[in-house]
Amino acid sequence: MLQLFKKKTPFIDIWSGTPEIHCHVLPGIDDGAKDTSTSLTIIEKYKSLGCTRIIATPHTMSGIYDNTPDTIKASYDLIKNQVEGLKLSFSSEYMIDENFDTLLDTHTILPLHKNYVLIEMSYFQPPENIKELIFKIGTLGYIPVLAHPERYAYYHNKHEIFKDFKSRGCFLQLNALSLSEHYGESCQKIALKLLKEDMYDFIGIDTHRIEHLNKLEQMKIGNAYITPLKKVCDTTRELFI
Ligand SMILES: [Fe+2]
Repeated sequence: MLQLFKKKTPFIDIWSGTPEIHCHVLPGIDDGAKDTSTSLTIIEKYKSLGCTRIIATPHTMSGIYDNTPDTIKASYDLIKNQVEGLKLSFSSEYMIDENFDTLLDTHTILPLHKNYVLIEMSYFQPPENIKELIFKIGTLGYIPVLAHPERYAYYHNKHEIFKDFKSRGCFLQLNALSLSEHYGESCQKIALKLLKEDMYDFIGIDTHRIEHLNKLEQMKIGNAYITPLKKVCDTTRELFI
């Protein structure tokens, strides 16, 4: 029995064919791909891993990455004609800040797909008004998808908050590399726990550099996690393909 749980399976064997819904592959507009050639190299790597659908999600973060639908589209336009054999579209990963509130009020949001909106929080302190904000996003007709909940260290001892977010209509997106020690051991521990509890709705890679995909290619998953991982890949595929 012990042997079964020690056995591991390549992550790619399970993830292959799943759409990528969180990545920084558009050129020159955030801390991801710096130019078109880097973008295209990363996209080729996605293809080689069996990915046929990418939603690019550059940061929109006030004062740091002041992206707008126009800047994001302009960056997408630089590569769109050079991408073959894979469907590429664009959205954004929205930092919860004052600017995001304005974007919501003015409906200047680029959803991931349908009305799903990818949001992230500061890594340093929890947003004060997160519950009200989740409610507000919903009342405006959007569905919030919280990026990498496992990466917010201030929630590591407040595990119950994830259930609370979900009960308020917020979906949770796992960063695949969190299943390894890439972001640290405690992040990995929370990610594996949330995965086992079937708390994740979607999976994304959050690729900023090709090294992230190289790491993913090497990553192995304990067989005890395969069933919930397959499930989260399936729900991602069903909605976003
Ligand atoms: Fe991201």
